[in-house]
Amino acid sequence: MNKAKLIVANWKMNFFYKQAYNFCKKIISKKKQIKNNFIICPPSSLIFRLSNKFRQINFGAQDCSAVNEFGAYTGDINSKMLKDINCKYTLIGHSERRELYKEDESLISLKILSALKSNIKPILCVGENLNQKRRGDTKKILKYQLNKVLLKKKEFKKVIIAYEPVWAIGTGKTPSIEDISNTILYIKNVLAKKSSIYKNVLVLYGGSVNTNNSKLFLNNINIDGLLVGGASLIFNSFFSMLKHK
Ligand code: PGA
Repeated sequence: MNKAKLIVANWKMNFFYKQAYNFCKKIISKKKQIKNNFIICPPSSLIFRLSNKFRQINFGAQDCSAVNEFGAYTGDINSKMLKDINCKYTLIGHSERRELYKEDESLISLKILSALKSNIKPILCVGENLNQKRRGDTKKILKYQLNKVLLKKKEFKKVIIAYEPVWAIGTGKTPSIEDISNTILYIKNVLAKKSSIYKNVLVLYGGSVNTNNSKLFLNNINIDGLLVGGASLIFNSFFSMLKHK
């Protein structure tokens, strides 16, 4: 039997409470069939109610503030507040935040430090865009994105990496399984060179994961799990990934 993988649902800005509640309720009612570990990252408006209702589900946020204290940061939610609503994980540096909100490595690295300080596990998203891929710069970009924000400090062993090529997100396109597997190995090598604290780091793949391609990805020994956007909003698609062994 394959070892259990980690499947992360990124719901992005979707679902009202009722839809999210029904989704989680269905998962719990079928929990005996679940073979993999999973985390659900709902919009922050829903985390509190969901995490109160569904204690058996691990919830994550989609972002967290770079500032760990209370203060005048309109619109922000910090990692202490996430902890307060039973959130255990947070995505950081998703490409949509990098693109739409101009988040760069210096901000992302503060966000990671801030999450770790509150014992929230960061899921750091990295990946090349189409131009970078065309130029053959994928490895260079990944190395930069990892080395700029990950430190040789022991609390960093809680960090999870999600390799998400920007050109694969929401496009229906994915790299070949060989390319994903090799890139993930490359990421693991970069981190192993950095420090032994990264020897058990989990590296997930994300970008246009669906019911059909997920089996191939989950069967690959180098891919530790998946970060799923669109398909995580469709119960049957997401559940087929949770059941896969
Ligand atoms: P997608 O999104 O699965 O819809 O491509 C993945 C993500 O943005 O994390």
